[in-house]
Amino acid sequence: MWWRSVVNLHRSKNLLALTVAAADSGSSRSPISQQPAAPMGLEDTVQKAKRAAAISAVDNHIRCCTEQQVLGIGSGSTIVFAVDRLAERVKNEKLNVVCIPTSFQAEQAIVSAGLPLSKLDIHPEIDVALDGADEVDQDMNCIKGGGGCLTQEKIIASCAREFIIIADSRKDSTKLGERWDRGIPIEVIPMAYRPLQMKIEQSFGGKAALRMAARKAGPVVTDNGNFILDWKFDNLTESWKEVNTTINMMPGVVETGLFINMAQKAYFGSMTDGQVTSRGPRNMKKS
Ligand code: 5RP
Repeated sequence: MWWRSVVNLHRSKNLLALTVAAADSGSSRSPISQQPAAPMGLEDTVQKAKRAAAISAVDNHIRCCTEQQVLGIGSGSTIVFAVDRLAERVKNEKLNVVCIPTSFQAEQAIVSAGLPLSKLDIHPEIDVALDGADEVDQDMNCIKGGGGCLTQEKIIASCAREFIIIADSRKDSTKLGERWDRGIPIEVIPMAYRPLQMKIEQSFGGKAALRMAARKAGPVVTDNGNFILDWKFDNLTESWKEVNTTINMMPGVVETGLFINMAQKAYFGSMTDGQVTSRGPRNMKKS
């Protein structure tokens, strides 16, 4: 299945670029890209952590009942494990679900798993949306869009009664930027990218770089036909809510990867013992 190759490619990219210390104590807060190169065996550890978080979230938030549940399916490598678990439960427990994707990749994952596909036109209200994240702070503010799907992800999250994050423990941080140092993805209308780079930098400092494609000449083009700016910020005095509102008001900005006050709960798979920790804002417990 081609989307598994994409995920595998994403996984190996994760290992090259999102390298982590072999023993992630949870107290190490150095940015992901500054941590030492990952030993090969780490892939298993990362995948196990992602899988464990995904399974916990699906098992805790998708009910076993005959009543239909409308689910939002996020994008990235972690969500694939949630789709696998969901497919398993649909088969074994005859769950009645429909799945609304947040990207082309998510749609392919849903279809490949044999899950029923839907869309917001048919189901404008979602019971539970599951998604990965690039970083989650103590207030549950998230950076998303590492995979470039932030706009559809935010629309789906905004329509969900419950928005649940699944991630490995590298994404768990106290403040945004502590661990994710690739900046905040911002989807923009192509003709506006240059003035927007200037406006964002003039308003908040830092550097807003146009995301370039890896295996195609030119910029990354999103599922919506737009460009992505990755804004690396430093020394912000404004609140994330203020930053998000100001950037979203700039003409040409489609959406930011700042998910403020949207997630109710996050599940983090440990990189050391495979345990899953879940938390809402400013509290944490073993799931
Ligand atoms: C895509 C996203 C992803 O959810 C985020 O990048 C996490 O990805 P992964 O599960 O591969 O770590 O926001 O736009």
